[in-house]
Amino acid sequence: MKRIFITGGRRLSGEVHIRGAKNSVLPILAATVLHKGVSVVENCPALSDVETAAEILRCLGAKTERQGECLAVDASNLQSRPIPEPLMREMRSSVIFLGALLARFGEAELFYPGGCELGPRPIDLHLRALRELGAEITAEGGSIRAKARKLRGAEITLDLPSVGATENAMLAALGAEGVTRIRNAAREPEIADLQKFLRSLGAKVRGAGSSTVTVEGKTPLCDGIHRVMPDRIVAATYLAACAACGGEVRLMGAEKQHLTAVLAPLKEAGCEIAADQTGLIIRREGPLSAVRPIRTAVYPGFPTDAQALFMAALLKSRGATVFVENIFENRYRHVDELIRMGADIRVEGRVAVVYGTERLQAARVRCTDLRGGAALAIAALTAEGESVLEEIGHIERGYADLAGELAALGAEIRTEM
Ligand code: EPZ
Repeated sequence: MKRIFITGGRRLSGEVHIRGAKNSVLPILAATVLHKGVSVVENCPALSDVETAAEILRCLGAKTERQGECLAVDASNLQSRPIPEPLMREMRSSVIFLGALLARFGEAELFYPGGCELGPRPIDLHLRALRELGAEITAEGGSIRAKARKLRGAEITLDLPSVGATENAMLAALGAEGVTRIRNAAREPEIADLQKFLRSLGAKVRGAGSSTVTVEGKTPLCDGIHRVMPDRIVAATYLAACAACGGEVRLMGAEKQHLTAVLAPLKEAGCEIAADQTGLIIRREGPLSAVRPIRTAVYPGFPTDAQALFMAALLKSRGATVFVENIFENRYRHVDELIRMGADIRVEGRVAVVYGTERLQAARVRCTDLRGGAALAIAALTAEGESVLEEIGHIERGYADLAGELAALGAEIRTEM
């Protein structure tokens, strides 16, 4: 079993290159299904989730070719086939193939998606949006069958700005006759990046980044090439690590405008933040202080994916910080593991209070999910002694080389079988 070993106590310094965003490249890979030709995806990170998406594409008959950080997908000879359940269960984003397959073949057969266990993660909004486009969908026994003799453009209003439901509706709408408007759409930067990719294929999509996305269906597509945006949550991870350990880190390629909601509490906690044409620089010399309540929200609010990371960063801050998790019902599973390291955290429902403590001790801990795993690594960097992180497969789903990159920043860290 692969594990990460971390001896805490070192400050971080140097630079880290922020790679392409997992939560952008996954819907983009699903979208390659739309085009009977070649899509080239640059800045495509080598993550286990990306490999799962490529495996799904190959199952459907696509050819994939990776050269460094570039993945080419040839979807000329795709077949309408069921996606195997084990692949669907690997990750949440597998469900985005539903909209893409419906647009391409007028039918799709797959299973309920897997992914991080963060409490209930229904797909009712996805299915409702696809039904509004004219799809007939049966979902029983864990499998989903969708059929549409003809998809028609529609006015879709999402009950809440779900990232996944917005992406699924955008892809399905490209196979519909006429215009679709998706209202109360998610505004995350990954939606705008998906729109950019679709436009590189010649698709007519606009409004991504706002609450209304408009799609003109049945536009002929062509071969396209797209460079994936930098991963703002990976950037938030290295910002939180530097805040926790002290030191100075340059995040090459990080996009400041995507990070405003996380930069504000970092400054409040005592970090200096600077930006230049290469990316972002964070410096922490003085003491780390607690901050005002952190409430997770849809973009441009504080990202739920950074909640665990900031909790870990503030474990040794001066004072108490309140966290309110508004997006997922059960996204504090990392707390019990942090408490093993001596953290002082109280949880009541969606509210958690972190009481800053002087010392943390090393421990053997288990990653509970992707961001929870990264949070354990951050905490271990500030603990006395050598910690052992187990179940690190969770981390590898979203970080190409967390241990290697932290080691390059001066951390005492290694991965061992
Ligand atoms: C995306 O998940 C991200 N994943 C998540 O990142 C992220 O936490 C989340 O958006 C919120 O920002 C990817 O992009 C692959 P949602 P998604 O649909 O699309 C409820 C990470 O760490 N909901 O916006 O699944 C849902 O239960 C991952 O990288 C419904 O009720 O998120 C949740 O409470 C973890 N019905 C809320 O909406 C639906 O049909 C937001 O979910 C769909 C969602």
